[in-house]
Amino acid sequence: MNDNNTKKSGLPRHICIIMDGNGRWASKRFMPRQLGHKAGMDRVIDIVEYSSNLGIEYLSLYAFSTENWKRPAEEVNALMELLVVYIRNQLNSLKKNNVKIHIMGDKSALPNIARREIERSIKETENNTGMVLNLGINYGGRDEIIKACKELYRQVQNENMDIEKIDENMFSNYLYTANQPDPDLLIRPGSEQRLSNFMIYQTAYTELYFTDVLWPDFGKTELDEAIDEYRKRKRRFGGL
Ligand code: IPE
Ligand code: IPE
Ligand code: MG
Repeated sequence: MNDNNTKKSGLPRHICIIMDGNGRWASKRFMPRQLGHKAGMDRVIDIVEYSSNLGIEYLSLYAFSTENWKRPAEEVNALMELLVVYIRNQLNSLKKNNVKIHIMGDKSALPNIARREIERSIKETENNTGMVLNLGINYGGRDEIIKACKELYRQVQNENMDIEKIDENMFSNYLYTANQPDPDLLIRPGSEQRLSNFMIYQTAYTELYFTDVLWPDFGKTELDEAIDEYRKRKRRFGGL
């Protein structure tokens, strides 16, 4: 649903967010890290709804990286449980807002219950025509590129494709974001200034925005600030 009062020109079509800082948010409050993730999930709910009302076409959220499996099992399990809770609690409201769920990442390694809920959410929102919500779950940019290379190699090997026809456009259609525009704006809360393996192919010309605000404190005002900053940027894409 687009709110024409808030929809202004120069809005990024595709925003991606590295949702970082949940653990530090909790530690600052002498709380277990899990409560930081719970508070982070509440921001996901707000930001998804707000972005969709603003008229953002694609929102990509980094929820769990291929490297996050290195964390203690207790934390990994808590994150997977939160994912299930998020889908169970939010699916109706996502449907009401015409949001279409898309997953970036290798679902095969996820616990059965998480995979089932994800598949259900994809199925139940597949005909929605509003904002596309890309959830990065067990997502890694390098993993994604290697997967694309393997698939292309298979096609060439089966003589379904001429290797000389592979170009940037075709390659990007073998990524999880096939047929989507590259992100215009990448936001990383939580003070770190790195990509941590997030959308490394797609962000070649994305505007980067870093903030010290921790993800559980990142609300509508902070998203507005990031979008205002984006509007001031001069994008040249290598030209003049
Ligand atoms: C981001 O918060 C959430 C995930 C990586 C799943 P962190 O858990 O990385 O929080 P910090 O960086 O330790 O504060
Ligand atoms: C990036 O945060 C991953 C997600 C937000 C899902 P991390 O906390 O895992 O990143 P590093 O380890 O600080 O680079
Ligand atoms: Mg972190």
